[in-house]
Amino acid sequence: MSNRPKPLVAGNWKMNGLRAALKELGEMGQGHDAALRAKCDLLICPPAHLVYVAAAAAIGTRIAIGGQDCHAKASGAHTGDISAEMLADSGATFCIVGHSERRADHGESNAAVKAKAEAALRAGLTAIVCVGETKDERVSGKTLAVVRRQVRNSLPDGASAANTVIAYEPVWAIGTGLTPTVADVAEVHADIRRTLKSLMKGEAAGVRILYGGSVKPDNAKALLSVDNVDGALVGGASLKAADFLAIAAAYR
Ligand code: PGA
Repeated sequence: MSNRPKPLVAGNWKMNGLRAALKELGEMGQGHDAALRAKCDLLICPPAHLVYVAAAAAIGTRIAIGGQDCHAKASGAHTGDISAEMLADSGATFCIVGHSERRADHGESNAAVKAKAEAALRAGLTAIVCVGETKDERVSGKTLAVVRRQVRNSLPDGASAANTVIAYEPVWAIGTGLTPTVADVAEVHADIRRTLKSLMKGEAAGVRILYGGSVKPDNAKALLSVDNVDGALVGGASLKAADFLAIAAAYR
């Protein structure tokens, strides 16, 4: 594919990591050497309290820092929430929205995810919009319909290849050690590309579509070689620099 986007390997630390974890970030920066930098971008999304220090620690490396969620509004009476503007002010350049744990634990609808993605864009962040089917949906043959609906209804207005990334994460693959077959990943990613084409026309070819869900050093090469897989969203294996770099090394 001629205009294939530059891959992105993104780490989602979820609710893990105290300040001492920034040591891993330092090692990641060192491991992201010139040869690897030419092949793929790296991003770490630490918990909110570490965004500012992580962004400061990442100065001088090419590792980008992102938030894991944001509120749709820029400010206001929303105790415990963080806005996209606050993340940007802390040095973040990306924000994950609509992760299945947010959709499940906080009842986030596609409309809510879309509003958060638009907030990310408003603040100048790149939105990583997560989609993916549950085990029941997969078993009953609804995967493509579910993912299409999520993409159509969560994609922010104003989405472009530069400001929006899609992450396909089957819910049943997250944190379980299970992964879809390479053929299943290829089918869903091709379908997401088609949906994006219908919504974004020519821009769609440049949108990065990440695969997420139990990506590990030993399966990264196979998953990341699939057509229309433009990187990974990594949970557990992003906590340790050695694992995360071993995943990114699939692009070496
Ligand atoms: P996992 O999580 O790599 O631990 O399966 C992926 C994710 O939730 O982004």
